Amino acid sequence: MTDRGSWSSRIGFILAASGSAVGLGNIWGFPTRVGQGGGAAFVFIYLLCIALICFPIMVSEIAIGRRTKMSPVRSFSTLKPTTYWWLVGGIGVLAGVGILSFYSVIAGWTIAYAWFSLTGQLTATQQDVSVLFAQFTSRGWVNVGLTLLVLASTATVLIGGIRTGIERVTKALMPVLIVLLVILAFRALTLPGAAEGLRYYLTPDPTRLLDISVFNSALGQAFFSLSLGMGAILTYGSYLDKRTGIAAAAIWVALLDTLIALLAGFIIFPAGFSITGFDPSTSGPGLIFAVLPRLFSELPGGEIFGATFFVLLSVAALTSTISLLEVPVSHCVDSRGWTRRRSVTTVTGIVFILAVPSALGNGSVDFFTTLPILGIDFLSLMSTIWNDFALPIGGFFTALFVGIAWGTNKALDELTLHNAWFPAKKFWKFLIRWVCPLAIALIIGATFFSLY
Ligand code: PHE
Repeated sequence: MTDRGSWSSRIGFILAASGSAVGLGNIWGFPTRVGQGGGAAFVFIYLLCIALICFPIMVSEIAIGRRTKMSPVRSFSTLKPTTYWWLVGGIGVLAGVGILSFYSVIAGWTIAYAWFSLTGQLTATQQDVSVLFAQFTSRGWVNVGLTLLVLASTATVLIGGIRTGIERVTKALMPVLIVLLVILAFRALTLPGAAEGLRYYLTPDPTRLLDISVFNSALGQAFFSLSLGMGAILTYGSYLDKRTGIAAAAIWVALLDTLIALLAGFIIFPAGFSITGFDPSTSGPGLIFAVLPRLFSELPGGEIFGATFFVLLSVAALTSTISLLEVPVSHCVDSRGWTRRRSVTTVTGIVFILAVPSALGNGSVDFFTTLPILGIDFLSLMSTIWNDFALPIGGFFTALFVGIAWGTNKALDELTLHNAWFPAKKFWKFLIRWVCPLAIALIIGATFFSLY
């Protein structure tokens, strides 16, 4: 048996799980989807999804992981042998590969933007900045190279082992990132136009509250942001000490993740609405790359500030790519008996091959930029498949597993081990057994229906 390693302390787990949760999803994905989903209506539904659907699933994933001390596939098959429940872990392994394949491309953009910022290209006029994004993302091989850099860095950390790699990085940099975000929010809120941005962000448009695509986007984003539905948090739970209370740790992670996403909104929308002609609904994946430079140019030492910000964002992305890669890697170690090194290199190679079309699909290669029939780019296709469908579906089956197959009482035994604090047990049972599966089935089902 290889030594699986474990966290050095409760705070080690919280930091590592927040490192997984906090990433591009919060600072790039959340504002982008708020923009596409019509502002405050999306925010409102998102918060409901976090509290009523994702949080109960989060504690379930941690409980499953810690109960078995195994990777997702083995966890499900250990708790329910001779059944097909292991497939739930299987979805997670595939989702890890799929998500990492496009996530690493966007992480590559943040690295490039650190460079652009340092060299003063971002503090040029606003017009140049939006052209810069289109020009840069259409340079195919530069993007492929940056993607490779992200994947190679992730692989290097993973080969180094659990504790030393993941914990150390997160512990040092997360607080700095939060401080920078707070400074940016203060600056953004004092720009002309900030009030309009705030109104957009905080006052829901009731017609959007009936739009199923907003629900699906918010649900997918909630799963994505908390790293749920694919066994990432389950895997981190498998390294968690039996004496640590799961509910309290999970609350910390979910709160931190949600606050950082909300904070990003308080930066992007006030600053965005201070730009003439700004339309969040059409900005797409380039949203933050167009708005943030405007903010940096309003700060003294904007180049350095911007560069520092993008470096930190790259690191936040790295702590997320680490956990994405960890799921398929720990699967290969646990189920196939490969060495850690072999697992890391093989999986990284597969992810890279799948990442190339996403890196080339932003103006560089026409075929991947506008896929035939679908009419969207390859990266958006990957994000829809894995983020909007695979994660909620993984969450749906995780809830069913705990509610029906394994049983909420057994899960609660694990959750309250050593008299750990766990509030509102009955309510949690109700959510995991009824609310989570029904709500997810309804949203995903209605989305499918509306596609036809
Ligand atoms: N939660 C990460 C983010 O917000 C992305 C992620 C998804 C990481 C799923 C692991 C698993 O950036």
